[in-house]
Amino acid sequence: LTGAITLDPGYKNSGSCKSEITFLDGEEGILRYRGYSIEELAEKADFLEVSYLLIFGELPTKTQLEKFENDIRKYTLVNEEMKNIIDGFPKTAHPMGVLASLTSALTAFNPKSVNPHNEKEMYEAVCKTMGKFLVIATWTYRKSMGYPLNYYDNTKGYVENFMHLMYELPTGPYKIDSTVVQALDKLFILHADHEQNCSTSTVRIVGSSHAGLFASIAAGVSALWGPLHGGANQAVLEMLEEIHKNGGDVDKYVLKAKDKDDSFRLMGFGHRVYKNFDPRAKIIKKAADDVLNSLGIDDPLLDIAKKLEKVALEDDYFKSRNLYPNVDFYSGIIYRALGIPSEMFTVMFAIGRLPGWIAQWKEMRVNKEPIGRPRQVYVGSPLRDFVPVEKR
Ligand code: SDX
Repeated sequence: LTGAITLDPGYKNSGSCKSEITFLDGEEGILRYRGYSIEELAEKADFLEVSYLLIFGELPTKTQLEKFENDIRKYTLVNEEMKNIIDGFPKTAHPMGVLASLTSALTAFNPKSVNPHNEKEMYEAVCKTMGKFLVIATWTYRKSMGYPLNYYDNTKGYVENFMHLMYELPTGPYKIDSTVVQALDKLFILHADHEQNCSTSTVRIVGSSHAGLFASIAAGVSALWGPLHGGANQAVLEMLEEIHKNGGDVDKYVLKAKDKDDSFRLMGFGHRVYKNFDPRAKIIKKAADDVLNSLGIDDPLLDIAKKLEKVALEDDYFKSRNLYPNVDFYSGIIYRALGIPSEMFTVMFAIGRLPGWIAQWKEMRVNKEPIGRPRQVYVGSPLRDFVPVEKR
């Protein structure tokens, strides 16, 4: 009963899948999207370019990229009745819960894009999802602030629009800082896909029942929300703020994280696959320095994060378990420097991960994969006879 499950040769019903999208090597700390290294893409590409690469398999030509951006613009209006849904939430609702609900509700207002039947319908569903998801993601912030909900501005770029949607107020124009847009572009690229992580596997398995694209993405949003997954970026910042409030004693928290009787874990450390440095963490750590320097911000939490990383990486407990900083360890420092509230950090992760979810859902549907049915190893009771209640 304790033997490993052998994978069916055809991968059918094994709970595993074949994919051409993302390759990662946890031992070597390698991450590639469609064969391109994450280092090159983060340095040389922009987020929509990488989204196109993940979803359609090739880097777009200039014309293809312009068409993709313009086709997304066709679908950025969200049905006004969706505002009735967001009005039903209290201001204090966590943005990820609101986002999951609004994403699922897109099904009701876009029935034709739920289950695309051909390449044209698939392309339209992709553009609709890319356009509408960005808008409703920012609506969760606007709702929490009691601000009016903004519309996508078709004269602006995709990532520029994130800042416009989040911060434009009726009282006057919002000046978008290009440094911020560049930093966000890089962060979204670094979060865009990551093979069969918890939320992506959720999107694939929900989609494998032929539940629609929006319902599948909504399921992915819910899975990402967890503090062991995408919710870790918010948890990291809360942890750093607590350490700062308590005098910056990182040794105390490293000790706590090692204590078997204490459920506390160093958030932003460890990974299911990377048993080496998460390549994204390296890039984000440098980006954190660059962004804070360019914005002239001296954030004590960055110093605490670096101190914590140094102490942990020299500690046998962490070294022996191959626990390194992951993608979530430094990202919150940058979001905070960009003025994004910590409750929105996991929404940022979702915006970045959206093209990966779409790409993986599309691959699963185009390949006509069977309904997901992960295998199990049964370790329960052997056969036994029923005992009437009087005799129990
Ligand atoms: C993401 O899968 C992906 O690709 C995810 C992701 C993506 O892009 O989609 O990369 C994004 O989710 C990154 C991970 C974000 N989560 C966190 O930072 C939360 C803190 N990390 C841990 O909870 C943990 O490291 C996980 C959940 C990330 C990984 O868990 P594993 O691989 O199941 O590790 P484990 O629970 O089996 O732990 C192995 C040992 C245990 O100790 P022992 O029982 O051997 O004594 O390592 C310890 C754990 O207690 N451990 C930690 C720790 N993580 C693991 N101890 C202290 N602090 C930690 N963070």
